[in-house]
Amino acid sequence: MRIILLAALCFILQQATSARNVNNENHPDSVYVFTYTSGSPTDGIKMAYSIDCRTWIPLGPNHSFVKSDFGSWGSNKRMFTPSVLYDNGKWYAVWNVNDEVYQFATTESNNFWVWKPQDYPYLNNNENFLRPCLSKQADKFLVRYQTKSGNNYEICSNDFHQWSSPQQISSEEYNHSNKRKDVTVSGNKLSGEIHRVPYPLVEELVYKVNDASLRNTLYNESCSEDAARFRGVKSLKARLSLTGESKPISTDLIGIFFEDINYSADGGLYAELIQNRDFEYNNLDRGEWNPKSFWELKGEGASWEISTDTPIHANNSHYAVLKSKKGASLTNNGFDGIVVKQGDTYDLSLFAKSMNGKKQMITVMLKDGDKTLASTTIKVSSVSWKQYKSILTPTADAEKASLTIALKGEGDIGLDFISLFPQKTFKNRHNGLRADLAQTLADIKPRFVRFPGGCVSHGNGLENMYRWIETIGPLWERKSQSNIWGYHQSKGLGFYEYFQFCEDIGAEPLPVLPAGVCCQNSSRGGHGQQGGLPMNEMDDYAQELMNLIDWANGDPKTSHYAKLRAEAGHPLPFNLKYIGVGNEDLISDVFVERFNYLNKKIKAKYPNIQVVGTVGPFFEGSDYEYGWSLARKENIDIVDEHYYVNPGWYIHSQNYYDVYDRKGTKVYLGEWASRGNRLENALAEALHITNLERNGDVVVMSSYAPLLAKHGHTQWNPDLIYFNNTDVFPTVNYYVQQLCGNNIGSRYVYGDIAVKATVEGRNGNMTEVNNESASLRVRSSVVIDEESNDMIIKLVNITPFDTPIELQLDIQSYQPKATVNVLSGKPSDSDIKPAISSLMLKSGTVYTAPAYSFSVIRLKRI
Ligand code: AHR
Repeated sequence: MRIILLAALCFILQQATSARNVNNENHPDSVYVFTYTSGSPTDGIKMAYSIDCRTWIPLGPNHSFVKSDFGSWGSNKRMFTPSVLYDNGKWYAVWNVNDEVYQFATTESNNFWVWKPQDYPYLNNNENFLRPCLSKQADKFLVRYQTKSGNNYEICSNDFHQWSSPQQISSEEYNHSNKRKDVTVSGNKLSGEIHRVPYPLVEELVYKVNDASLRNTLYNESCSEDAARFRGVKSLKARLSLTGESKPISTDLIGIFFEDINYSADGGLYAELIQNRDFEYNNLDRGEWNPKSFWELKGEGASWEISTDTPIHANNSHYAVLKSKKGASLTNNGFDGIVVKQGDTYDLSLFAKSMNGKKQMITVMLKDGDKTLASTTIKVSSVSWKQYKSILTPTADAEKASLTIALKGEGDIGLDFISLFPQKTFKNRHNGLRADLAQTLADIKPRFVRFPGGCVSHGNGLENMYRWIETIGPLWERKSQSNIWGYHQSKGLGFYEYFQFCEDIGAEPLPVLPAGVCCQNSSRGGHGQQGGLPMNEMDDYAQELMNLIDWANGDPKTSHYAKLRAEAGHPLPFNLKYIGVGNEDLISDVFVERFNYLNKKIKAKYPNIQVVGTVGPFFEGSDYEYGWSLARKENIDIVDEHYYVNPGWYIHSQNYYDVYDRKGTKVYLGEWASRGNRLENALAEALHITNLERNGDVVVMSSYAPLLAKHGHTQWNPDLIYFNNTDVFPTVNYYVQQLCGNNIGSRYVYGDIAVKATVEGRNGNMTEVNNESASLRVRSSVVIDEESNDMIIKLVNITPFDTPIELQLDIQSYQPKATVNVLSGKPSDSDIKPAISSLMLKSGTVYTAPAYSFSVIRLKRI
């Protein structure tokens, strides 16, 4: 007993004095830390520390260690009055997300640096959650808080995960728990909480914050500083030598990621020319839209209305009723005008019914201004829906044509699903793709196509999750949907069309379906937090995912879903190998429970299908860390990494994958780009691909994002390919993807590129020295394509120097004449294309890589 008392006394004394103790190394054992926010709701929790609680030193100085992830993108992600607890070496935080919802936010961390993906528990008393105070009492976490109505409550939890129902408490009890203090940090009076922590913890955070800020500086480096960076350097030269060793790498390294963003599908790759062909536009697509949008009524005394009585199909519930005097018409201008070519043929189809049983004649005209380019007349006599078809052949070219449907007589007529579709599509597929755009994609020679998203896949709220089954079958039976990017998805480009396109270009299909949760940035269905399907619906949902595998690969004789595929025109299987589950989701408990459920079900029934999981939107941080630990724990086949970062990140992260475990989960770099469409960006991307190739045993696939963007309808910049209704504008980044897609290898040949800089010494003599900046920017990768046995050398030069590179290669078994593709110019150039030439090679040949260039040298096997 006496020993215990003595120990307790020592502990109390130590606690009382340790903040001032100075150890041998002149450091205190412990310090005070102050956790606070700046007052701006989009800011996060910050920290300052102090020896004496008088002078406070901010960390960062302004670093947010954790920000709220609740709510839709941007300013809706808010954090108010966080309360932080330091207990047993761990940090816990709770905060108020806004004053409308009956929820609050929780997270925890072992080091104050990486925080667990947040959870947003519900409160079941229909009161909101303001000014929380978090503490621990008798081994339980206790949160006392106030509400808008002036009440005080407490909730508690054993595990910081399951919370008790709110119990009302007195304001005295609340005040007793309130540890908030005002402290002056850098001259600003701030409200927060004071904790005492071991000094090494703060020291570690100081190191991490400084490191992050240093890395940030490196990541923001750009070629505009090259004059300073290479001051004193007169020239560069390099030698590329190979070790003779090689390893197998993925042959699927370059693919494409198609998402319906920036009007990529309707009005883009999907060749339909009529906008809102089914009168299904609505204000969920965009506030001001409705079923009449993009249709114009003409004709004196004419009127029209939208009806939902006896539609063609429940999934296509709206249609137009044109109430007419003679000459009444509806006109559609397509997606910013309809482009047609003289002599080309266009499939016109529409559903019509006579509303009063009288026979009606309608004229359908393709017009350019007042000039009629093509027309047809249709007799409508049925009171039930009937599809009418015709072919229109315009007599002249037009870029802004329109389609008019005019009634010849009087009467009411129902109209729906009015479609004008070019017969010339990519590979002349019916209901196919715009040929020039699809060809531009095919020219990359992508080894796979990921679709349909992105955020489109997990959707804006649970109701908006992408359900593949709603995208197949007759077009008018498909369920159109609002698009998370603020417009409408007709689903005319559905899973059958995606799979057909993959087959047409020799690419593996990689469908990505929601993991039973919607986008954590949703603005609908629960104020934006990530929602999950109820667990009792997950069995059906897992079946829905497995039905896709059956639809793609099954035998039509035995499988209902495979029969649907065969009836649509594809009796042979599509040979699906991959299925993505989830898209950069918050790795919350809600997500983990559902992902594991789906992964286990799919792997149990289809062990050969590779499941692609997700590890968040960044190359580091909570979702990355927790996503990867889930991947390791569950032995997920592949995970999808995403990062959109500046060129400097690629230059200074070249060993990012060299340290990855080679035996476990593989990587699909599913979304990446370097935030610009200038040569400087494209070269950073080429550099990254050389590093991906070296790591092609662990990184098995990659795809630049986003892929397509329509001029005038772009939500996200930069993109790989821009287009309008008539033209396609591939970017300089596109040419890097194309050069790499056309020059994929199956073996990586180990080698080394040694770079030397010539500098002028004080005595005027020239000396050769190592130069780290140059070594980071003159890089190479050598691969063998075992199908052709060709050797492919990729050389990246992101310096202002034409750099002679001695190629120390054993090239006896290759033809001496090599093909060289070079993309080069000024770092700011955005409108350049690769130039093709040839090079006579022997071992030791010097190839001069132009300043700011990407060269791909292909040697043919003899
Ligand atoms: O590529 C654009 C978007 O970026 C994707 O939809 C999403 O996955 C990511 O945030």
